Amino acid sequence: MKLAVVGGGSTYTPELIDGFARLRDTLPIEELVLVDPSAERLDLVGGLARRIFAKQGHPGRIVTTADLDAGVDGADAVLLQLRVGGQAARNQDETWPLECGCVGQETTGAGGLAKALRTVPVVLDIAERVRRANPDAWIIDFTNPVGIVTRALLTAGHKAVGLCNVAIGFQRKFAERLGVSPSDVHLDHVGLNHLTWERGVRVGGPEGEDVLPKLLAEHGAAIAGDLHMPRAVIERLGVVPSYYLRYYYAHDEVVRELRTKPSRASEVAAMEKQLLEMYGDPELDEKPALLAKRGGAYYSEAAVDLAASLLRGQGSDVQVVNTFNRGTLPFLPDDAVIEVQAKVTTAGAEPLAVAPVEPLYAGLIAHATAYEDLALDAALRGGRDRVYDALLANPLVGQFEYAEKLTDELIAHNREHLAWA
Ligand code: G6P
Ligand code: MN
Repeated sequence: MKLAVVGGGSTYTPELIDGFARLRDTLPIEELVLVDPSAERLDLVGGLARRIFAKQGHPGRIVTTADLDAGVDGADAVLLQLRVGGQAARNQDETWPLECGCVGQETTGAGGLAKALRTVPVVLDIAERVRRANPDAWIIDFTNPVGIVTRALLTAGHKAVGLCNVAIGFQRKFAERLGVSPSDVHLDHVGLNHLTWERGVRVGGPEGEDVLPKLLAEHGAAIAGDLHMPRAVIERLGVVPSYYLRYYYAHDEVVRELRTKPSRASEVAAMEKQLLEMYGDPELDEKPALLAKRGGAYYSEAAVDLAASLLRGQGSDVQVVNTFNRGTLPFLPDDAVIEVQAKVTTAGAEPLAVAPVEPLYAGLIAHATAYEDLALDAALRGGRDRVYDALLANPLVGQFEYAEKLTDELIAHNREHLAWA
């Protein structure tokens, strides 16, 4: 089995390698190609990756290359984890929206739209080249904004599934609190990427007992603390929102906070510098603890499970992924991309049935879906008016005064990445 990772020079890659090494029986990789434009990063990350494999006795070969076409040639699955413009572009996404009093964030609000506009054309070009190299290859998309990018891939007819670590993070955390194995915890997880709620926590599979009320009663304070949301709100709702919901439910508070501290991008850039220095140490042969300070916990395990199911029909088989709605949430178009539990086989991901979604959540999901639709149109066809429409439709913007200003800012800060601007 051959896997390629596009954006393989990411400082996150050792997390992925660690998962591949630990879970090699689930996913027996013979060759792993790290593709990245940066020779320096490939050298540092590739070196550590080989040492991790060697230490853990993984027989797979690790190859590094800047040549995308050669790297993906013959790959059974291609993982996309790239970031167009790097942390510098992210830093801008997190900064200029604040001037309008809007949240500055890498995947939601105006910053998330900027990221979508930069990323969609690049990812579609990569996917086209993957398809040319091997029409049967699966594309696993970690690249944010995952909902919009996956929708772009699926709409263009690619064999793609979108993945995020939010659900697996809750699954692992709840399992720990319940004292059961993570594979026994089935979440009633519903929404869009980075806009989800856990409406139930079932032990023993989709039909198991719902222990969410018990979890909230016994661990409500800790759960609310992790999310930086008031316990009373979570208890009243009786569901656990993802921490991305804080950008909606506590928007103004978040803006005030963001204005007083350095951007996440600048923190991450500093961490990356440190991590790359560590990776250069020939003695280091495991993922460093510092990596745990990044947001991507468990993403390697989610990736292994998904790749195993897509390539071998194995793994845990029911997983939370991003895929076409196709009637699952009846209030959304079929071609919306939703994030729900799905049965994953070598034929792809098929959402499991979802219980009717309460208006409290359905309203925001529908609103954000309409935004994602317009965002994708803006990413594919460009133009100031399309950017403006997407911003006006974004639940975190919504006012024409802000949409006007943010449109100008977005274009001014991203001109070099936007072919049409
Ligand atoms: C979570 C999200 C990812 C996001 C990451 C950011 O893992 O699910 O989509 O990329 O956080 O983490 P960072 O350490 O870059 O802030
Ligand atoms: Mn994510």
